[in-house]
Amino acid sequence: RVFMAPLTRMRATQPGDVPNALMAEYYTQRAGAGLVITEATQISPEGKGYADTPGIYSAEQVEGWRKVNESVHQAGGTICMQLWHVGRVSHSSLQIDGQPPVSASDRPYQNKTTVKDEHGNMVRIACSTPRALRTDEIPRLIEEYRVATRHSRAAGFDMVEIHAAHGYLLHQFMSEESNFRDDQYGGSLENRARSCPEVIGEWDAARVGIRISPLGIFNGLNDLAGEEMGLYLAAEFAKRGLGYLHLSEPDWAGGPALSLAFREKLRAAFPGVIIAAGNYSLEKAQPLLDAGLIDAIAMGRPFIANPDLPERLEGGHPLNEGRMELYYGGGAAGYTDYPSLRG
Ligand code: PHB
Repeated sequence: RVFMAPLTRMRATQPGDVPNALMAEYYTQRAGAGLVITEATQISPEGKGYADTPGIYSAEQVEGWRKVNESVHQAGGTICMQLWHVGRVSHSSLQIDGQPPVSASDRPYQNKTTVKDEHGNMVRIACSTPRALRTDEIPRLIEEYRVATRHSRAAGFDMVEIHAAHGYLLHQFMSEESNFRDDQYGGSLENRARSCPEVIGEWDAARVGIRISPLGIFNGLNDLAGEEMGLYLAAEFAKRGLGYLHLSEPDWAGGPALSLAFREKLRAAFPGVIIAAGNYSLEKAQPLLDAGLIDAIAMGRPFIANPDLPERLEGGHPLNEGRMELYYGGGAAGYTDYPSLRG
């Protein structure tokens, strides 16, 4: 019940944002997780918002992920692809032909993302003002999620997770702070939520999970009204029999802790597996597991530094400290060189 949370590491091979042998080694080292969830992976070139994150839209990328999956499966692991479109959390230099990024509306994200300068160094740069997706473009967007799901199946993933959290594109549609549309994708809560269920449907629902971040403050969206949306989506996904609901809780990035009352309502709305993430420890998780309010926890930063995290937790062993300066970009250092108990 200790899963590996999705973690951006920015080490895909260039050009082409291709998963590589180093990434296969990294994920294989962590195959002891109850479920490995990959780093956020763009469904299209347009969905990219940071330097060197991997994609799942080209044949080369699918082949790279196939090698990751073969290796993780050989080590006895189970692995889920996180499908990502950043929307407005991007810069035109990351987009095809320097186009502006897209979003639900043209309201910019007033903050920075990470790109590479001409010397290959990671630098922080203000996000570009996005252009609003036209209504007649949304079927194309939805098709890209569906194609990415088919690619994930072909690459041998066990599941896919739709990233609908953290102020990225699907969340930009959900939030009244970034969605000012007057078509069927804007206005009422049902309309703002519409694109989320539409992107699923290319695999048995049990093979699809969704990640949301109700009440979280992230990437310019202050989701303090997120309870209602969270409950609505939980009920919609329960109707469709989705594999899991993954809560990225405010505790790791800002925002009020989820209340017990909200957790109880989520549990009532979604009878399937609920995964909770956000600065969890076994002590924090156990009462929620015992009460049946969550079924598993996903851990992020502790999994960066401890490839054998579940074994360490089970045995009460000390944890390695992560080297934060090596989280994003680079090679094996701070990535595949953390010791496990077995050496
Ligand atoms: C990040 O790159 O910092 C990042 C990416 C995806 C998330 C959250 C953070 O969901």
